Amino acid sequence: MTAYKSKDAPVAIEFKDVSKAYASTDVQALDQVSFKIYEGEFIAIVGASGSGKTTLLKMMNGLVKKDQGEIEYFGESLDNLDPILLRRKMGYVVQEIGLFSHMTIEENIAVVPKLLNWDKEKIAKRVDDLLDLVHLDKNKYRKAYPKELSGGQQQRVGVARALAADPKVCLMDEPFGAVDAMTRQDLQMSLLKIHQGLGKKTFILITHDINEALLLGDRVMVVDQGKILQFAPGREIVHHPADEKVEGLLQVLKIQWKQWKEFYEPIPEK
Ligand SMILES: Nc1ncnc2c1ncn2[C@@H]1O[C@H](COP(=O)(O)OP(=O)(O)O)[C@@H](O)[C@H]1O
Ligand SMILES: [Mg+2]
Repeated sequence: MTAYKSKDAPVAIEFKDVSKAYASTDVQALDQVSFKIYEGEFIAIVGASGSGKTTLLKMMNGLVKKDQGEIEYFGESLDNLDPILLRRKMGYVVQEIGLFSHMTIEENIAVVPKLLNWDKEKIAKRVDDLLDLVHLDKNKYRKAYPKELSGGQQQRVGVARALAADPKVCLMDEPFGAVDAMTRQDLQMSLLKIHQGLGKKTFILITHDINEALLLGDRVMVVDQGKILQFAPGREIVHHPADEKVEGLLQVLKIQWKQWKEFYEPIPEK
């Protein structure tokens, strides 16, 4: 858990009254959502399936277009940014898509640097550094194919690939959803360390696991039916849930609940 970043930091992503309804449904996937994410924060977005998390994330890199409102990346409207260039600038880890099965680990990690025309030596060095960063033996795995790796190892490569071109912002959509509990804990700890080690990188991670959200997020955004119920540091959510829905989400913790209360310093009542 890193300290809650100062609001003096530049705003990395801002949503102003952003709404989205998919044409094929009458569901309001996002309903007038506003928030600021500061550079260097680790944000965890948590909510039930269908609450709008993926929609929110895909709007940040222009994969989903807004109906209304304004989205800014470091103060610049997304309307004025080329979505393809924007996506190359942002890291993206997705649960379902995973790695390109016909490419080696090295090639998988090098996808964006290649698109950006980095020279061969620079790419090779970057791949080595990233494999070190995510704790994979480079001599063993550089030339391996994804199917030769375990699920957890593949997710490590996914994180390495997302960080390859040194993005300021890295988006992660349930990156550890498909791995077992032990591996998941391991990956969570690695990711925290990576974030801390990289300094000013902004990480935005979706999870449906409130424990994961509390563990990883400097701030946790609780989403429900296209609305943000609460966006606050974990300890504030634990001690002062915004409403009964947030409280309900916390009840899922049950066993861990007491530990979380102890983990966080209570906020003195004003
Ligand atoms: N491509 C799509 N077309 C139509 N409806 C969609 C599409 N993607 C998502 N939705 C709907 O938008 C809502 C939010 O979905 P999503 O953002 O994927 O939520 P989450 O990631 O929290 O599960 C859901 O009701 C979902 O069915
Ligand atoms: Mg989703």
